Amino acid sequence: MQTERGQWSSKIGFIFAAAGSAIGLGNIWRFPYVVGENGGAAFVLLYIFFVIVIGLPYMFAELALGRSSQRNPVGAIDAIKPGSTWKWAGYLGVLTGVGILSFYGVIAGWTVGYIYKMAVGNPGGFNEYISDPWLIILLFAFFIALTALIVHGGVEGGIERWSKILMPVLLILLISLIIYSNTLEGSGKGLAFYLKPDFSKITGKTILAALGQAFFSMSLGMGLMITYGSYLSKKENIISGAIYIGMFDTLIAIMAGLIIFPALFAMGESPEAGPKLVFVIFPKLFAQMPGGLIVGAFFFILLSVAALTSTISLLEVPVAFMVDEKKANRKRIVWIVAALTFIIGIPSALSQGASDFFTNFGLIPARLTSPDFLSQMSFVFGDFSLAFGAFILSIFIGWVWGANKASDEIQTGAPGFSKIRPLWIFMIRFFIPAVVFIILLNLFGVFD
Ligand code: TRP
Repeated sequence: MQTERGQWSSKIGFIFAAAGSAIGLGNIWRFPYVVGENGGAAFVLLYIFFVIVIGLPYMFAELALGRSSQRNPVGAIDAIKPGSTWKWAGYLGVLTGVGILSFYGVIAGWTVGYIYKMAVGNPGGFNEYISDPWLIILLFAFFIALTALIVHGGVEGGIERWSKILMPVLLILLISLIIYSNTLEGSGKGLAFYLKPDFSKITGKTILAALGQAFFSMSLGMGLMITYGSYLSKKENIISGAIYIGMFDTLIAIMAGLIIFPALFAMGESPEAGPKLVFVIFPKLFAQMPGGLIVGAFFFILLSVAALTSTISLLEVPVAFMVDEKKANRKRIVWIVAALTFIIGIPSALSQGASDFFTNFGLIPARLTSPDFLSQMSFVFGDFSLAFGAFILSIFIGWVWGANKASDEIQTGAPGFSKIRPLWIFMIRFFIPAVVFIILLNLFGVFD
């Protein structure tokens, strides 16, 4: 990506950037704890189902809209329907980018702190750590500043090159950890929890959680793929690109579960620990592993890098919007948006015990999510807003822009699309909006 409206240097550059956006804390931190909270294997199957029937076809649509309009989410909609209220879906996306980044950056800060904890060989208590206000705010500020520095300096030289090296290393490390974790005594029960479905565990809340997690993990529903698609050339194949991204993303999430659940049951811990799950289990795993502290420090470095390629993409959406639509100076606006996000994120940083008020915030009812501010932000921006955004955008793309025009755009560079074209048109016009709508209604208790 360049300062001017640029293009990816190569197809592989795009795949890495988009996969880098998709693969992040969502796969290794969020996926395992959501699976744990929602009863295990049945949720995993539901998740994979949503990735294939909703996530992928919807990703084609966002990429096509971006590449066709060469704009950020607001500009893309405006280019098709100038001056209409559809633009608000774009504004929602921009706001959601800031909203997600504000709590995601806090977790990314925890991750950086663990590099140090592992390196010095003393993870200490997790609850004391995350309730230390100054330390957590400092780590959060550091991570947001690092993100801004990279978005400021341009993405292609540094981050693209590094992620091409570090992502394969992460993959190898995960494979080794899967092997290690599954050799622990008592790990079999964990594997069963993770892979043997019990369909009675599926409820309305589970279904929204699975769909929300699919959108979150694949970076869909807020126009990120519109923005990244806008830097894509007409020669590139949207279909194969999206399939690669979806496959890698799902693979990494499944692998994280294959480490966590066997280890967790072997240690006699509960899968329902919530957001702290991986921060408690991974250090314990490293502590009992030969040479584990070095492996642990290395693991948290890689996890921080994975988080960084995601935070970059989150910051890129509001920045692209301000540059395209408000003619902002790119270098300056990066820091302004980052500073704003930091301020919005402070309550999340304080919501894990440091401040009683933010820890027991509880504006969103308990049947939907935990009371702490961070979980509430994660629910509003990381689940609800993405599903709602995808609902509006799929209608916009299927009906207002038109499924035929969108299909033509997808087909450019992907001739094989003609075979599934009618199916895709049905999906984007009817299936995706209907399913997402029903799930949203259910969320508001309409079917209770
Ligand atoms: N997908 C990322 C993860 O799994 C998080 C993320 C980055 C994201 N950019 C996004 C989520 C855009 C939704 C939309 O960690």
